[in-house]
Amino acid sequence: MKTRIDSSKGLDLAKDGHASVKRLAVIGAGKLGEGLLSGVLGSQLVPVSRVVATVAHQPRADYIAEKYGIKAGTNNREAVLGADLVLICLKPQQVKGFLQEVRKDLRKDALLISAAASVTNEFIERELPFPVRVVRAMPNTPCLIRHGMIALARGRHATDADLKMANRVFSSMGRTVTVDEKHMDAITGLSASGPAYVYTIIESLAEAGVKLGLPRELSTELSAQTLLGASALVLQSGEHPAKLKDMVTTPAGCTIDGLLELEEGGLRVTLIKAVVRAAERAKQLVDNQNK
Ligand SMILES: NC(=O)c1ccc[n+]([C@@H]2O[C@H](COP(=O)([O-])OP(=O)(O)OC[C@H]3O[C@@H](n4cnc5c(N)ncnc54)[C@H](OP(=O)(O)O)[C@@H]3O)[C@@H](O)[C@H]2O)c1
Repeated sequence: MKTRIDSSKGLDLAKDGHASVKRLAVIGAGKLGEGLLSGVLGSQLVPVSRVVATVAHQPRADYIAEKYGIKAGTNNREAVLGADLVLICLKPQQVKGFLQEVRKDLRKDALLISAAASVTNEFIERELPFPVRVVRAMPNTPCLIRHGMIALARGRHATDADLKMANRVFSSMGRTVTVDEKHMDAITGLSASGPAYVYTIIESLAEAGVKLGLPRELSTELSAQTLLGASALVLQSGEHPAKLKDMVTTPAGCTIDGLLELEEGGLRVTLIKAVVRAAERAKQLVDNQNK
């Protein structure tokens, strides 16, 4: 297919406006990296023969190579050679070492997409000796089954085409939003940490069912599907959650008694505080990293 170049920067754009990737390097094919790998390969963004992944340990590399039919190894310098798209899925504390290791091997026109929590675009830009195009992503664990929530924030040198590319990469894993990077700590506290809060709620509701005599498996299914359905109704109807809550709450019925207990137990305030605390912690991690 014929391609045109979107200015001197950015990946090639095909005629339909979609960027094409010549070589993709996934750095850190762990839980998130493998999920991304599988999503990207499924979306046919780039042929399998042009995808390479790295990890720290050879047995994991062998597993990835065997499962996905791609080249996988432990050599980051080799992996980034010629790559025009590099997905960084390392732990936050590993990113600096990686950038120092590959700074001479990276293509200057490569797009870097980093999913490392708390690592800012500015940090990556500062670590490299050229104006690197970078997009920061904050996904969450439901990405592993393609029901994730992914926030994207562009760096100083990233183009509109780069954001489109990041959207394409992550849309195979769930819902994407583009945000100003200043919101990333809040997003970390809300949608990245959020699944942990939701699992606690699912577990608690299931325990309630058990207390009332329901078998545990049934109770967990009822609880999880209730959260899934209620969430889908919020997203699909676009209604305010309070209005949807009112629809369940018959005057003098059962639900209002349950809601009274929730208010007395401080669920609302507790959840707000949990998100705020996690966001503060995310900010501390950034501050430490920038010292
Ligand atoms: N899991 C999520 O849903 C999620 C959500 C939001 C953000 N994130 C972010 O994604 C990043 C990865 O998280 P994760 O849960 O996927 O962690 P993980 O499963 O531990 O994956 C990290 C991977 O990096 C590899 N690795 C370590 N050092 C390396 C190096 N120097 N070069 C190349 N590969 C190296 C490890 O290899 P080995 O397996 O061989 O040790 C491992 O496969 C973190 O920054 C996290 O904050 C994850």
